Amino acid sequence: MKIAPFRIEQYYAVHEFTAPHMLSSSDAESVAIAEVLALEPDAAERLFAQRLGYTESVGAPELRAAAAALYDTTSPDDVIVVAAAEEAIFVAYHALLQPGDHVVVETPCYESALEVARSAGADVTEWCRSAGNGWAHDLDALEAALRPDTRLVYTNTPHNPTGLLMPRQVLDRVVELCAERGAWLFADEVYRELEHDPADRLPAAVDLYDRALSLGSMSKTYGLPGLRLGWLASRDRAVLARIVDLKHYTTICSSAPSELLSALALRHRHVFADRSRAIVLANLELVDAFLERHAERFSWVRPTASTIGFVRIEGVEDTSVFCQQLVADAGVLLLPGTVYDVPTHVRLGFGRSAMPMALGLFEAWIETRS
Ligand SMILES: Cc1ncc(COP(=O)(O)O)c(C=O)c1O
Repeated sequence: MKIAPFRIEQYYAVHEFTAPHMLSSSDAESVAIAEVLALEPDAAERLFAQRLGYTESVGAPELRAAAAALYDTTSPDDVIVVAAAEEAIFVAYHALLQPGDHVVVETPCYESALEVARSAGADVTEWCRSAGNGWAHDLDALEAALRPDTRLVYTNTPHNPTGLLMPRQVLDRVVELCAERGAWLFADEVYRELEHDPADRLPAAVDLYDRALSLGSMSKTYGLPGLRLGWLASRDRAVLARIVDLKHYTTICSSAPSELLSALALRHRHVFADRSRAIVLANLELVDAFLERHAERFSWVRPTASTIGFVRIEGVEDTSVFCQQLVADAGVLLLPGTVYDVPTHVRLGFGRSAMPMALGLFEAWIETRS
């Protein structure tokens, strides 16, 4: 299999654990195991008693039930568990696509959405969104990208890297266009439940369309990426079975302690989502004030969900150099938009408790340069 390097993950592999001040992380402030165990009286006892054997390849029953409860139309049999969203993208694409199949991917995007499809031999067309029109979803462009035999459409809302939600009427039209062609809709919803205003939450794709796959994860909204746990929900059980058949060649099953902790956390997921939202909203106020103070240098379309936003740096055509200088001088880590093929922008992350310190150091650094 030939696959292009994953630029986002390569960048973090170099910097994430050495840069002292994170200002671009995509996940919310992480949670300690003790906080998860405190949620139910016998949880610690259950964790200590957990046998470290294999688990069911479709996922532990209590976890499938907890994940199915996120949606309106699913039962536990409509959910399969994976070793985080990243495994879901890999196994779903490779299980569902044949070389030459046509796939449409919303871009800019988390790179595996594009590159894993290409590695499966798919003919990939990008549904490009751009800063020029405020990252609008151009439905005419989507229709032009689609073919009568398009097999799969990959969308991501709330969106990495802009932090924007897809408007409801766009989602409905995407579903209609997929249904007309019998195409699968792979809906990356890893930031769902981290809408800045919970009233803005969109229905999950799995509740709208019987050939949709809704992708969920413990990593982002709930602040538990170290569990390496995610799931796919679909009412098309034959599709889920094909994906599990491929999972037998990757991880077979997920980690037993992670499944236990994930089920526990999902049963109380509002505790974690509310905690993440409180951090995000407090930090966003600081980012707003920062952007106002430096309006001539920076601008963005204000995110409506998630922990991230995509910032334009005026007068900088290649932000990778800018980010390298920043981390070398001030130890502050931004993510250059070059990893999304949008070199004029940087991804800013505001989901961590220590973000105010990182933002302050960034501001001090800018002022020394002007
Ligand atoms: C949009 C999107 N999808 C999937 C993933 C992978 O998430 P996980 O950590 O659950 O593998 C990420 C991680 O950054 C992401 O931003």
